[in-house]
Amino acid sequence: MDELLAKVQSLDAQYTMQTYKRLPVAFTRGSGTRLWDSAGREYLDMVGGLGVTVLGHCHPAVTEAICEQAARLVHTTNLYYVEPQAELAQLLVEKTFPGSRCFFANSGAEANEGAMKLARKYHFTRGGGRDKIVCLLGSFHGRTLATMSATGQPSKWQPFSPVMPGFAHVPVNDVGALERAVDAHTAAVVLEPIQGEGGIRPLSDKYLQAARAACDSTGALLITDEVQSGMGRTGTFYAAQVSGVVPDVITVAKGLANGVPAAAFLARGEFGEVLAPGDHGTTFGGGFLACAAALATVRTVLEQDLAGNAGRVGGTLASRLKSMVGAVPGVSEVRGRGLMLAVQLESDVARRVVELGLEKGVIFNDVSPSAVRMLPALTLSEEDAMKAADVLEEVLRGTDL
Ligand SMILES: Cc1ncc(COP(=O)(O)O)c(C=O)c1O
Repeated sequence: MDELLAKVQSLDAQYTMQTYKRLPVAFTRGSGTRLWDSAGREYLDMVGGLGVTVLGHCHPAVTEAICEQAARLVHTTNLYYVEPQAELAQLLVEKTFPGSRCFFANSGAEANEGAMKLARKYHFTRGGGRDKIVCLLGSFHGRTLATMSATGQPSKWQPFSPVMPGFAHVPVNDVGALERAVDAHTAAVVLEPIQGEGGIRPLSDKYLQAARAACDSTGALLITDEVQSGMGRTGTFYAAQVSGVVPDVITVAKGLANGVPAAAFLARGEFGEVLAPGDHGTTFGGGFLACAAALATVRTVLEQDLAGNAGRVGGTLASRLKSMVGAVPGVSEVRGRGLMLAVQLESDVARRVVELGLEKGVIFNDVSPSAVRMLPALTLSEEDAMKAADVLEEVLRGTDL
C-alpha cells in the first residue's frame, strides 16, 4: 500500500467520526472522467462524486472561475449584494420558471428544508397553517431533522427518533394511495422524479401527473427534489420535464457548481413571493465562490447541451446494460434514464462488484446491497460508457464475485 493512503487511513481512523464505509483509495488528481489515486493509478469515474461533477473533474471553465473569484473576493455574506449570485439567479430562474425567484443554500438538505418552510409559510399567510407534508416511501431528501423525517427510509431516521411530526409516506407509483393521502391539511407533496438513494427508481409520468392534480385540487404545493436528477443528468435539464408536469418549487444541489457546495430552491409565480426579510437566511449560501463556480457550470451545461449528451450516451449505455439481463448471471433489471442508472442484481454482491471494478480501474457505486449505480459526468463519451459496461460484465461473469 502506498504511504499517502496509509497515512490518510490512519488519521481518518483516529480522528474522524466513523460514519463512512470508505473504499481503500485516496484520489489525488482528476481530469474529465478520469481520477488518479495516490499511487498514480488511473480510473474511469462512473460515480462523479455522487452525481456532482457534471462537467467532469477540474473542468477548465470552473477552475478558471474559482481561481479568478478566489483571487478577488471570497465572502461577504448576504448583508450586501453579491454579483455572481444575482447573475446565477437570473440564469437559473430564466431556465426554470421565467419571472420567478430563487434562494441559494449550501446543500441538498438545506434546499429541501427551505422549500418545505416556504410551503408552510404560504399556507400560514393564507390563514390556515397546514400540518402535513406527503412524501414517498424509498425517498431520500437529506440528513437534517426535517429532511430526515421526509425521507421514506426508516433506516435513515430510526436511531434519531422521534422524527418530526407532520410527514406522511405513500408508496411509489400508487396513484390511489397518493390521492387518499393528499387532502386539505397537506402543505406540500415532496418527491424525487427519479428516486436516487432509493436505488434509481423512476416515478411514472402518470404518477407525477396525478401528484400535480392532487396538489391542484387541494391547494398543496408540489415540490420536486431534483438534487440528484437535475442539471441535465437524465437527458433534460430537470427530470420531471418529460412528464409535462410543472411543479411549484424545484430544489437543486449536487451538480449545480461541479463540486463546490451550492444549492438552490426555485419557486414559481406567487410562491416566489412567500419568503420575506427575516424569514430565511444563511451565512454561506449564495457566496461568491459557489456562485462563480455554478455560473460556469450551468453555462457550460447549457451551451454544450450536456443534457442532450447525457440522454444519448445514457441511452446507449442503458441498452448495453439491458442486454445483460438474462444473459449475464445475476443481473435482473436496469433502471433509470440518461446518466442516472442502476443495475439490479439478484443477490447482495454490489459492494463486491464495486471493489472488483475498482481493481479493474472503473469506479461504480453500490446504491444498495444489491444494486450498482452510475452517475458519471454528463460529458461521458460512448467509448467510456462501453468500457464501463464491459468491465461491469467482466466482474459479474468473473469467479471472484
Ligand atoms: C434527491 C436528494 N435530495 C437531497 C439530498 C441531500 O443532499 P445533501 O447531501 O447535499 O444534503 C440528496 C443526496 O444524496 C439527494 O439525492
